[in-house]
Amino acid sequence: MTLLLKESDPNAARIAAELLRRGELVALPTETVYGLGADGLNEQAVASIFAAKGRPQDNPLILHISEPAELDNYCHDIPAAAWKLAERFWPGPLTMVLPVKPIVPPRTTAGLDTVAVRCPQTPITREIIRLAGVPVAAPSANLSGKPSTTTALHVLHDYGADGPLAAIVDAGPCRVGVESTIVSLAGQRPRLLRPGGVGPEALRAVLGELDVDRAVTGSIAADAVVRAPGMKYKHYAPRAQVLIVDGSAEAAAAYVRREYGAGDAVLCFAEEKSLYEGLNPLAYGSEADPETLSAGLFAALRTLDRDDISRIFARCPTGGGVAMAVRNRLEKAAGFTHVNAEVTLC
Ligand code: TXA
Ligand code: MG
Repeated sequence: MTLLLKESDPNAARIAAELLRRGELVALPTETVYGLGADGLNEQAVASIFAAKGRPQDNPLILHISEPAELDNYCHDIPAAAWKLAERFWPGPLTMVLPVKPIVPPRTTAGLDTVAVRCPQTPITREIIRLAGVPVAAPSANLSGKPSTTTALHVLHDYGADGPLAAIVDAGPCRVGVESTIVSLAGQRPRLLRPGGVGPEALRAVLGELDVDRAVTGSIAADAVVRAPGMKYKHYAPRAQVLIVDGSAEAAAAYVRREYGAGDAVLCFAEEKSLYEGLNPLAYGSEADPETLSAGLFAALRTLDRDDISRIFARCPTGGGVAMAVRNRLEKAAGFTHVNAEVTLC
């Protein structure tokens, strides 16, 4: 039976840490999404993460640490830029990829010579990692391929109460709502592998230079060699086909109204809801405030993950910062399919 541990329970951190030390799986809240945690130095515990999620073995995990200084325990050849990023953004929604030390088992890194490390912000999770005394390997806690989990209930929904999880720690909905930004500092130049809670502009302000991996902006063949292996899989996707509708609010609504039929759903900005009256639109946040879009995206995709919905018309933000991460997740859910409503109207 899966234990549900509330953040407010004074014993929650101690119990969760003890379970992790015993090699059990514990779902942990972070400011980005809920993670499916296990002792990242214990091969068997790590193997059980892959089994529980149904995750491809070639997709490495992120190691979560409780203090930035612990980076040194698991990585070597750490450039000054990494420490600068840690100082500016940790604890927080940034993951750094660096050369791995032998202490980290190949199961965690999927055999790569690098490891992804993050110091999350959520206080109870940092306390759990500190008490466990080991780095916690944690992918997003969704079943593989499904939208990520931003509440404890999402995690319970994916695994059930009699499933493989020893416990779920509930600290409420995740503030950021999309996964961390991943930057590789293992190559010649810093490279953005996944957009997330920390925008590229903020990274450039610290780093000066930042390449953007092509996995971020385009779809990739399943057999392609990519720097963040997880980026090649179809992701975050409800069972319906997602179609991103670009163009002005009015042009998009006109297009959707023309195309809309049985089994269709609309995912839009709060500002545009009235344009879709009668089509039962779901607003996932405000276009004017991209942080509400990131906070609401995955819960909305989960709400629309139903047998009777076969196509979702989605509105997608433009711009940088966290809007870039929202766009990336929607594009991945859509298999990078966009329609330009302005053009199709002509
Ligand atoms: O916000 C987050 O990062 C959440 C929370 C739980 O911390 N975790 C998360 O993990 O999103 P996951 O496993 O869903 O995504 C990790 C991504 C994958 O795309 C994986 O391929 C990439 O990080 N990754 C892990 N280790 C890597 C490495 N050594 N080099 C390049 N990419 C790596
Ligand atoms: Mg994930």
